[in-house]
Amino acid sequence: MVMVRRFLAVGRMVVAIYAGYKGLQIAGWVTGASRRPDYYDAHHRRSARLIYNTAVRHEGLLIKACQFAGARADILPLAYVEILSELQDRVPPRPFSAIAPWIESQLGRSLGECFEHIEEVPVAAASLAQVHRGRMLGGREVAVKVQYPQIDRIIATDMANFSFFINLLAFIERSFDFRILLDEVRKYVPEELDFVNEANNARRLAENFAEDDSVMFPTPIAELSSRTILTMDYIEGIKVSDVEGLDAAGIDKHRVAELLVTTYLRQVLVHGFLHGDPHPGNLLVRPGPVLVILDLGLAMECSEELRRGLIKLSAAIIARDAARIGAAFRELGFETRSGDDDTFITLGELFLGQALEAHQAYADLAMIERIQEQLFGALRANPIVKASSDLLLVLRVMGLLSGLGKQLDSQVDPLTVMMPFLTGREKKKD
Ligand SMILES: Nc1ncnc2c1ncn2[C@@H]1O[C@H](COP(=O)(O)OP(=O)(O)O)[C@@H](O)[C@H]1O
Ligand SMILES: [Mg+2]
Repeated sequence: MVMVRRFLAVGRMVVAIYAGYKGLQIAGWVTGASRRPDYYDAHHRRSARLIYNTAVRHEGLLIKACQFAGARADILPLAYVEILSELQDRVPPRPFSAIAPWIESQLGRSLGECFEHIEEVPVAAASLAQVHRGRMLGGREVAVKVQYPQIDRIIATDMANFSFFINLLAFIERSFDFRILLDEVRKYVPEELDFVNEANNARRLAENFAEDDSVMFPTPIAELSSRTILTMDYIEGIKVSDVEGLDAAGIDKHRVAELLVTTYLRQVLVHGFLHGDPHPGNLLVRPGPVLVILDLGLAMECSEELRRGLIKLSAAIIARDAARIGAAFRELGFETRSGDDDTFITLGELFLGQALEAHQAYADLAMIERIQEQLFGALRANPIVKASSDLLLVLRVMGLLSGLGKQLDSQVDPLTVMMPFLTGREKKKD
């Protein structure tokens, strides 16, 4: 029953939004008038509100999807970004009367035995958990991340729905086969629901960046943690997308943008271990600037092959060498239907080549429209039939960083930051 209700809610939402855009398009044809940006903006806003309301009511993976969308200032209209980004850390919380007994049952002790003090009003609430500030018996200031009771069941329902839609779509429309995404979600969602895994990721990332003072991760406290509760050091900071806050603290947002790009490049290309969820709700900045990375449940091992493949691909794209671009994609596990490389070459140029050519960290609107046109043309003519799921996560990270680049008005030149990695000046430490 719950499953059907969630299913219908999403269906209704999609139809209402689609019908609205279609209506505007038809009205444009009928009246012959040119596109009315104000009408479109009103419908963007209505649609974003509708998605927000549906997500808040039904939670689960919907919130996750909104967190991703709300971070894509580089490709989505402002209305979506403004409204959906609220779900990065401001989901309406569960009352403390439900949370307190849950913490006690999960830790097997009373709150008084665990904490000197815990604040009843959470500092934030997001997709899987809400976070309460507290103090340990010795006085250490902590953040207590409490997984919502029953969230695992909600997520399992969402997975089933999601899987149904994707299989249906793949059946109806052969060129819209997103089943590879499904494997991706199936693999990572259970890991995100296990806070022991998150604590391990936190330790491993902290170790990788041990010599780097400009990046920090909250230290987990094992004796007050479980699969569903994660107690860690409380870290104060300014949300990375809060440009006014950064300005007020005298932090240069361009340096923050640069720090972000190098931090994530280093993870992929040097450490081979990548945090997969850099949306603005998970990133704080302290004076320095020091980047604080939270929410480490989603992380991935980058194999030596993936690392080498990505370096080769970037080098080939920079050199504009078509044969090497094709070879690099094939080495990364991609295949096109015809076996020809033309789609890869378009894809490579579009993703990296154009941003490199323009020397900017994110695409502007005109560039995105051009990219979409060329990419869809290429995909229609010779679709990609196999892709690497590891690379999809890397692309997700790149997408989130590109969105942040736009919000921070990044002036990072991708070519300049990537050069040391391509020439081997930044090397893996063994
Ligand atoms: N160690 C911490 N110190 C300070 N604030 C934190 C800490 N951990 C989490 N938060 C706050 O709580 C929010 C939700 O935590 P997060 O780990 O991102 O949960 P979720 O997986 O539900 O997104 C974060 O966006 C951040 O605002
Ligand atoms: Mg988060």
